[in-house]
Amino acid sequence: MSNKESSFSVEHFYDSLSSEYHFVYADWYESMEIQSKKLDRLIKENSIQSSKTILDCSCGIGTQAIGLAKLGYKVFATDLSSKSIERATFESEKMNVPVSFDVVDMKELEQKVAGRFDVVLSCDNSLPHILEDDDLVLVGKNILSKLNSAGIFIGSIRDYDRLLQRKQRSTNPVVSVVENKKTITFQLWNWKEDNTYIVNHYTVKEQNGVCETTLRKTKYRAYTRKEITNCFLKAGFGKVDWLMPDESGFYQPIILARK
Ligand SMILES: C[S@@+](CC[C@H](N)C(=O)[O-])C[C@H]1O[C@@H](n2cnc3c(N)ncnc32)[C@H](O)[C@@H]1O
Repeated sequence: MSNKESSFSVEHFYDSLSSEYHFVYADWYESMEIQSKKLDRLIKENSIQSSKTILDCSCGIGTQAIGLAKLGYKVFATDLSSKSIERATFESEKMNVPVSFDVVDMKELEQKVAGRFDVVLSCDNSLPHILEDDDLVLVGKNILSKLNSAGIFIGSIRDYDRLLQRKQRSTNPVVSVVENKKTITFQLWNWKEDNTYIVNHYTVKEQNGVCETTLRKTKYRAYTRKEITNCFLKAGFGKVDWLMPDESGFYQPIILARK
């Protein structure tokens, strides 16, 4: 088995999931629209100067990148998974929304992405795929290097302060129905003592009573907000704030970090 295909390789997990990633939402297009409107409001409320350029450094299949480009932002979007970038490129072309895409590890943004941006974005719990503090500090440094002087980093991360209290073992199923074909997506989590957990991601497709199940595995670290804040301060950010869903309207806690 190659390194890329090794059991919990993030790259392999998202390459393999790219054609089915939209099933994590009941309606991907609707989620794209809702999320981008909420992010647009957050950007406007929290920018010191008017923000026009965005680097989405974990864009996946483009949920936020395409949605924000549709609202008029100039978006450059990168991800570790080349198959996700292929799908995102296909989707943005299909929707006729211009976005520039490239395959880049967020630990290498400084070397591999040209220019600086008003906003750097990383949504949908992407940062906790970085499992070690030192690597998260490195990611923070790379994000900081891509921000304009008045720029802002916006990330969304699961509420691990809450999840660590009970260490839940599963997520609620998401059901999507297209042309009589049902797809059910859910995750089972196996917790480790070091607050990492293995995600068993199930996609079950049912048509005419016949089911087909695909199981994919990856690993996350359940960082507390304090741990992430400390890594970002260590990376050189001057100010780190958090907005909870009842304040931001976004479905996950939001980290806002500035120079
Ligand atoms: C939960 S998905 C979110 C995807 C995206 N927001 C979307 O809507 O499609 C997490 C994403 O983080 C990306 N990722 C994880 N580690 C990364 C890294 N080191 N550099 C760049 N992207 C990374 C994965 O490839 C995946 O696309």
